[in-house]
Amino acid sequence: MKLKALVVFSLGVLGFSNPLLSKASFEFTTSVPTDKTFHVVFIDDVNNLNGMSHVLDQKSDGQLSKLIQLNKFTPEKGNTLHLQMIGEVESLLLIGSQNKDGLSAPELQDLGGKIASSLSSTKDDLNLAIHVENLKTSEALPSAHIAYGYHLRHYSFDRYKTKKSSGESDVTLVTNNADNATKLYHTDLAYIAQGVHLTRDLATEPGNNMYPQAFVDLVKAKFKGIKNVDIDVLDMRDIKKLKMGALEGVGQGSINDPRLLVINYRGSEKTNAPIALVGKGITFDTGGISLKQNTGMWAMKSDLSGAAAVAGTLYASAQRGENINLIGFMPLAENMPSQDAIRPGDVLETMKGVSIEVISTDAEGRLILADAVYYAQQTYKPKMLLNIATLTGSAGRALSDEYAAVITRDFELSQKMMDVGKRSGENVWPLPLHPNHFKQIESPIADIKNSGAGNPGASIGAAVVATFIDEDLPWIHLDIAGVDWLEADIDVAPKGSQGWGVRFMDQLVRDHSK
Ligand code: BES
Ligand code: MN
Ligand code: ZN
Repeated sequence: MKLKALVVFSLGVLGFSNPLLSKASFEFTTSVPTDKTFHVVFIDDVNNLNGMSHVLDQKSDGQLSKLIQLNKFTPEKGNTLHLQMIGEVESLLLIGSQNKDGLSAPELQDLGGKIASSLSSTKDDLNLAIHVENLKTSEALPSAHIAYGYHLRHYSFDRYKTKKSSGESDVTLVTNNADNATKLYHTDLAYIAQGVHLTRDLATEPGNNMYPQAFVDLVKAKFKGIKNVDIDVLDMRDIKKLKMGALEGVGQGSINDPRLLVINYRGSEKTNAPIALVGKGITFDTGGISLKQNTGMWAMKSDLSGAAAVAGTLYASAQRGENINLIGFMPLAENMPSQDAIRPGDVLETMKGVSIEVISTDAEGRLILADAVYYAQQTYKPKMLLNIATLTGSAGRALSDEYAAVITRDFELSQKMMDVGKRSGENVWPLPLHPNHFKQIESPIADIKNSGAGNPGASIGAAVVATFIDEDLPWIHLDIAGVDWLEADIDVAPKGSQGWGVRFMDQLVRDHSK
């Protein structure tokens, strides 16, 4: 026990409050800076260079056009070409920006991420100017979105490395409307990127240092001083008192007790019912007595991605002072096999009073969500409830990296969520919820059981959670098992945890704030 206290201490002091993460800073100006050695220009037409690229072509006596031809650079969106010594510019990155319909906000963010990733092999500190021109878009402030995308991509989890893996970036965006872009980026978009990075930190941190109370400590440290935020932590005694037998049961095999963390952000009048965001927080999922197989089990350190995304979303909304009431619920537990662990066949009581027969102890996410969503509804009377979880391998197999699964009780709401996804840069695709899925979780000895015969796994998982939610409450179920962990880089995230859900939920929050 003494040892444990020591670990917590070092995490708090050396860890997240003072992370080794490489930094980036962003500035917006209308005039071309003369002190930069590194420049980035967008190109939408190689035969008609405009702005900075035109200036550099003239200064280099047509050298730039010639190199574009020699390298067969074409201006399709996202194409890159890195050149040295053009005019007085030491380093020049060309990025294709050609497009038909005008670049959406997520497409601009992808371009920003593309710039960061093109430079991520450089371990040195970077001092660069991005010339925001030759971009067709209806966004009023494309430069802020490019900075935001760069910021999203500029991430590495370095705290266990003795040497940093990337340098710092000092980025100047050259644009008209610099004042408004400064405002949009620094008082708004930067907080989303910070929320995403917080989520990645939580999901990447190994299980030995990220157990329920460690999650709570880190969130408390991060939210310290943010206005209109109350943090409430239910410990084992509270969980028992409230008869949350499902959350208790999943956590009881571990020496690290479960918690229910509640972040309450009051950004609007009391009379406005809040939106509830509930995230699965399994700090490590061994499967319990229904033990998982060895291969790849390490990745289950990120089985708290849903809870982490809820924390990241609250962080962004509260920091920018969004006009909304928003409450995040994060049931936290470690799913371990031990002589104290629940067994297959055990029956658990829940706060709602619905008993659950545990067919597989590896179907633990729906168990902790059952108590958490019920508690959220009963205690805070939300007008809408969203839950997000790395719930089923089944969702991952169906949709892979491109979409998270969305399940609702009415298809129209799912379609609305597809639209939210499009605008946020994080896409979802609907899976069904059919009366038969509820049939499949009927138990011979309890009210329900926690898994069915198998297919369709994602829908059956959702049916268990749905059992604990009033039918007339607008309810959104997100299964992110396929998207939370990237096997390869994307424009706005290096491989590993991508912090999926913060951008999606942030967009949903905006749509519901006044
Ligand atoms: N955390 C897993 C789901 C998961 C799998 C997330 C792969 C990320 C990648 C979840 O707790 C689980 O084990 N689900 C089981 C449910 C089954 C036992 C009904 C699954 O999907 O196999
Ligand atoms: Mn599991
Ligand atoms: Zn799990």
